[in-house]
Amino acid sequence: MDQPEDLPDLGGDREIDADQRAAYAADGHACVRGLATAEEIEAYRPLLLAGAEANRWEHRPLEERDTYGRAFLQMFNLWQHDPAVARFVLAPRFGRVAADLMGVPGVRLYHDQALVKEAGGGYTPWHQDQGYWPVDTTDTITMWMPLVDVPAEIGSMTFASGSHHLGDVSGGAISDASDQAVDELIRQRGLGTVSHGALAAGDATFHAGWTLHAAAPNPTSADRPVMTVIYVADGSHVTEPTDQQRFDMHWLGGAKPGEPVGSDLNPLIWPA
Ligand code: SIN
Ligand code: NI
Repeated sequence: MDQPEDLPDLGGDREIDADQRAAYAADGHACVRGLATAEEIEAYRPLLLAGAEANRWEHRPLEERDTYGRAFLQMFNLWQHDPAVARFVLAPRFGRVAADLMGVPGVRLYHDQALVKEAGGGYTPWHQDQGYWPVDTTDTITMWMPLVDVPAEIGSMTFASGSHHLGDVSGGAISDASDQAVDELIRQRGLGTVSHGALAAGDATFHAGWTLHAAAPNPTSADRPVMTVIYVADGSHVTEPTDQQRFDMHWLGGAKPGEPVGSDLNPLIWPA
């Protein structure tokens, strides 16, 4: 296996300007093109995909799964199993962009996820992420970075601009029903929806924990592998989990409600 130090250094060398920060504050999402180069992604891709495959738990054929299950394979915290993958997930470059977009001094890891929308995979229903997270801050953000070029016919996610200001409007757990409820809400409130379209490997979108987002199905014969990293502002605390949030206590390393998010599973990524 590659030694982690032989892999490209993803240091904190990318800056976000005031306009990008203001747009993120207003919209709750941003696209940062070329955050990793094609060469950097090429170096890390085999390790990330191997980690995703090793941690795959869903083996049923697509047609036996529900809507959520057809949307993507979801593999968590790959960084814990491979120091080379950890070098990517804990990259100061990505963490700095996350902190700068939110306008906070520092970020910690919440968890990582590989999200593979399989060939022939289904749509990703409208949803918000933050309802699953037992933390006391809205300064949460997900980086979504494709590991292959994503053509327009698959596309990247669609975001409802400004929806991060609305709080919990998710319409319940991710499902056809939540999708319909959110679709109706978007129409009623006249929210604008935006997709950043086709992305190259190494481009990334960022969205806030309460930003409504969805994605189209994958009609192609190739998988769409994406690596995501979820960050939480440094200084945040764990809250008493709701039923929907209980599973996510896994990502907080034993920290109890009221305690800081800061276990071994939640290292400070930026400042490096
Ligand atoms: C997707 O990759 O289709 C959705 C990812 C997300 O919900 O953050
Ligand atoms: Ni999501």
